[in-house]
Amino acid sequence: MEIHRHQHQSAAESAPDWAAMAELLDLEADVLHSYLSEATAWVHELAADLPRRRILDLGSGTGSGALALAQRFEDADVIALDGSAQLLAHCQVKARDLGLADRVRTLQADLDIAWPAIDAVDLVWASMSLHHLTDPDRVLAEVFAALHPGGLLAVAEMDRPLLFLPDDIGIGRPGLEARCHAALAAELADAVPHLGSRWGSRLRQAGFTIVAERPFAIDLTSPLPSSTGRYAQASLRRIRSRLDGRMNADDLATLDVLIDSEGADCVLRRKDLTVRTARTVWVARRS
Ligand SMILES: C[S@@+](CC[C@H](N)C(=O)[O-])C[C@H]1O[C@@H](n2cnc3c(N)ncnc32)[C@H](O)[C@@H]1O
Repeated sequence: MEIHRHQHQSAAESAPDWAAMAELLDLEADVLHSYLSEATAWVHELAADLPRRRILDLGSGTGSGALALAQRFEDADVIALDGSAQLLAHCQVKARDLGLADRVRTLQADLDIAWPAIDAVDLVWASMSLHHLTDPDRVLAEVFAALHPGGLLAVAEMDRPLLFLPDDIGIGRPGLEARCHAALAAELADAVPHLGSRWGSRLRQAGFTIVAERPFAIDLTSPLPSSTGRYAQASLRRIRSRLDGRMNADDLATLDVLIDSEGADCVLRRKDLTVRTARTVWVARRS
């Protein structure tokens, strides 16, 4: 698989650290639980007129979507599809822990290479995965063909970067997080050119009819979920790993202080964390 695309990495960088990725995705599922719960409840409502036997989570990662959908759609069988066997192994463990192993199965497939042989499905959920693909339009056409007529596709994508800190954090120069994202922008534009694309138009082009489009503003303040500090640390670590040579030494040093588990200023201990981001979910029908 084209590993650099899956992990927002350039070819010159090291191989993906799937354990770190799994941890990040699981922490994200925990911290953004209320968003995911609201989004899947909304999709459940929109799917009220559907036979809901088979659901596919495309680019499932560790399966936060697959598992939430298996809980929402109580009679459905769910396939969690991902290119990474390591992430799928985490999904299997969580499915067992939740007593869902008989209804959630995993399928390893690289969508950049070929669409896998699967029976037709009633609902496809693709969260934060389409922008990683080399040719999302080809995959959207495959999704269209894989759905039963009348079946639904739900696409969730990020509208703005994830932020945890106030502008002035009391150390270093104000505006650190904004500078980190600005420094990464050029790399992201190159490694994941479909990030931030106009998914509504792409869905229409693939033959879908848009049923609904809904923005979800995520703005969590105190009391925050208990894993927020670890989520912020894992996210900032991932950002830090890509910033060598892209930011000045003072900013990098401040970032190091924020992610150093032992330090007093580590995000694990800070009282000024929030979680701000935004996602849009499109629900589209194969008419
Ligand atoms: C940002 S993660 C999102 C995971 C999950 N959907 C979620 O919302 O938590 C993107 C996922 O897409 C998967 N992915 C990226 N490119 C892929 C490809 N070509 N084939 C299959 N999976 C892919 C990655 O392995 C990763 O698990």
